[in-house]
Amino acid sequence: MTPKDASTFARKIAGLAPVIPVLVVEDAAHAVPLANALVAGGLPVLEVTLRTPAALEVIRAMADVEGGIPGAGTLLTPADVKAAKAAGARFGVSPGVTERLLDACEDAELPLLAGVATVTEAMWMYERGYDMCKFFPAEANGGASVLKAWHGPLPQVSYCPTGGVTPQNAAEYLSLPNVICVGGSWIANRNLMQAGAWDEIESLARAASALKG
Ligand code: 3PG
Repeated sequence: MTPKDASTFARKIAGLAPVIPVLVVEDAAHAVPLANALVAGGLPVLEVTLRTPAALEVIRAMADVEGGIPGAGTLLTPADVKAAKAAGARFGVSPGVTERLLDACEDAELPLLAGVATVTEAMWMYERGYDMCKFFPAEANGGASVLKAWHGPLPQVSYCPTGGVTPQNAAEYLSLPNVICVGGSWIANRNLMQAGAWDEIESLARAASALKG
């Protein structure tokens, strides 16, 4: 997969809903009801972070949920890329970027939403052929005003800000011309999942899917 194809795919999935839920799932039995709730609430793109022993099984189970597009988050190494692809991930997300990680994703045909935190990293990605990145950690790096400033000299690159994004600040990010969607964990946090609060997760997803800039 070329960087251009990967970026085109990443832009397409990022454009399906204003929010990508960032999911840390401890129990594989939660995968299907969780994905059903999020899809029903209008959030089809599901980032399952590889931070729990259950994560790969969760991706495998979500791959069978109609309307869901599961991806693997927290990709750090080529081995993570291989495991994610084998589990059925349709895309990958990483907190930062390395050449080895990009090589592995391109070889595995796994579109990567790679994290950048500085304009130099965004330029590096653009030079390599990518025009869609994650901005991480968004709030700690200065928030929406940083992406607003980057748009002047580098309007070619678009972002999915993640990290510290909330229902309160999401609209400000989404109003920027270089933001296609945001990522966040507030829609399905640990407590809601452990309580099996699928209806509440669906309501939070519905509110998130209605967010606009
Ligand atoms: C993460 O690192 O888990 C993601 O960036 C989500 O961050 P958030 O919990 O601040 O939404």
